[in-house]
Formats: sequence, C-alpha cells, structure tokens
Amino acid sequence: MAYHNIISELKEQLLYVTINREQKLNALNKETLAELAEVISYADEEDEVRGVLLTGAGEKAFVAGADISEFSDYTGAQGEELARIGQARVFDAISQCSKPVVAAINGFALGGGLELAMACHIRIAADHAKMGLPEVSLGLIPGYGGTQRLTQLVGKGRAIELIATADMISAAQAEKIGLVNHVVAASELIAKAEEILNKIKLRAPLAVTAAIKSVNAALNFEVNGFEMEIKEFGKCFNTLDFKEGTTAFLEKRKPTFSGK
Ligand code: COA
Repeated sequence: MAYHNIISELKEQLLYVTINREQKLNALNKETLAELAEVISYADEEDEVRGVLLTGAGEKAFVAGADISEFSDYTGAQGEELARIGQARVFDAISQCSKPVVAAINGFALGGGLELAMACHIRIAADHAKMGLPEVSLGLIPGYGGTQRLTQLVGKGRAIELIATADMISAAQAEKIGLVNHVVAASELIAKAEEILNKIKLRAPLAVTAAIKSVNAALNFEVNGFEMEIKEFGKCFNTLDFKEGTTAFLEKRKPTFSGK
C-alpha cells in the first residue's frame, strides 16, 4: 500500500517505519495515525516481518505530539472518541504486536510522540532527544495511554511530576528513570536499534511472541499473567522451534528456527 505520511521499507525481515512529516515535526494527524494502524497490522500478520523499527524523519523530532491543529475545536465526546479509537488502532496495537517494536527516538518525543514511543516494546534515544507529556499546558491530559504507560515505566511519583509539570527531560534523565533502555549518539541510533532487533531475530519467533504476550499480561489487570505464562509456556512445547532449539543445544550447534 502507498503511504503519504510514513515510509515503510522491509529489509532483511525488519520493517523500517519512518513518520515522515518533518515540516510539522512528525506530528500525528489523522492520516498518519491511520497509516500507522495499517502498517502495524501488516507487521503483525506478515510472517516475513520479524521486527519493527519505528523512527521519525529528520534530526529534530521523533514525533512532537498529536496534531494540535486537528482537535482544537473538539467537544468532549469528540475528544473521547479520538482517544478511544487512537488507543485501540495504534497504541494498543503496537503494544500487542506479535513482533518486537523498537522506537528509535531521534529528537523531540512529546505528548502523543512519547506515548507512541512508550507503546513500543523497547526505546532507544539519541543523546539530544527530549521527552515529555506537555498536555496540561494545553488544558488536556495525555489521551493515548500516556498516564498509564508512563506510570508503568517510571512509577507513580515520577509520572505525576512529569505530567503535572509538563516538563521536558533529557535523554540521559529518561535513561536514569527507566523511560528509555539505552541512550546513544544520534549517528549510532539506528545501528543500536538494529543490533537489538537482529539479536531477537536469531531467537525462536513463536517464543518471542509468547514472551511479549506474557509480559504484556503483567500490566493487564483483566488477565492473570502467571496463568497466561503457564499457557504460553505449554504452547511452546508444541512448536518445531522448540524441537530445533533443544536438539541444536544437545548437538552443540546453532539453531535454525522456522517460526513454526
Ligand atoms: N501539532 C501540530 N503542529 C506541530 C506540533 C503539533 N504537536 N508540533 C510542532 N508543530 C508544527 C509547528 O506548528 C510548526 O509548523 P509551522 O512551521 O507550519 O508553523 C512546525 O511544526 C515546527 O514547529 P516549531 O514550534 O516552529 O518548532 P520549534 O523548534 O520552535 O519548537 C517544539 C519545537 C517541539 C518545542 C514545539 O513545536 C512544540 O512545543 N510543539 C508542541 C508540543 C506539544 O505540545 N505536543 C503535545 C500535543 S498533545
């Protein structure tokens, strides 16, 4: 499918998705969100895709937020609808994607931009990146899962401080509080994300999917995560990858996984 606001390229089983509205600091307008929903659903379903690298075009911004110009005259009902649909189709879809999704934060990640990065499974930041949830300065709160995912990642006290002050923090501060996994020089950002995704690519694909699903369950109050882990653990025994992984270990060779 042809996209207008994102670039999507499949290279060596990794899907590179770049949000491409550099003039607007890659702000998430409706079209961009729809294209992101489409590309994530493709990544989830397509066997050829073994991981997703999500970044923003240019050096200034990953994503500077939801596109403020689109919702400035919304009513409460429209606002609720915006958040509900966006969360389901994009942010939750990324977080529940069966393939690992890595955010390469190449600059400002603000509001919906930080929420997008937080929906990803792993975050790497360039050392000049700045992050924050400044919605209260607009008379709003985060609506794409930010209050929940920030709290899960950094704890309640830090989450309330960041959200209520609308402060922007540096990449180094973000790493210190566990908001990002690694901070690297901008020139090494994509390589670091690729290094992690390529390592995951060597592992058994169905087991990686089961791991993502089980870890997600730890943060979902509606399911028993321990029970989910037991079920997913059991299912792994029925896969060819399990046979290959254990046989390769016993034969003292590297496994070749088929994802079956
Ligand atoms: N929505 C819509 N447009 C946005 C945007 C957003 N969230 N963030 C940036 N832009 C646009 C600006 O309007 C500007 O467009 P223009 O050139 O047509 O006027 C362009 O992107 C460049 O931004 P600008 O503000 O001129 O860059 P800057 O270097 O002076 O400031 C930021 C950078 C990130 C500090 C500033 O753009 C900003 O505060 N953005 C909004 C952040 C925010 O509140 N996000 C949460 C939204 S819920």
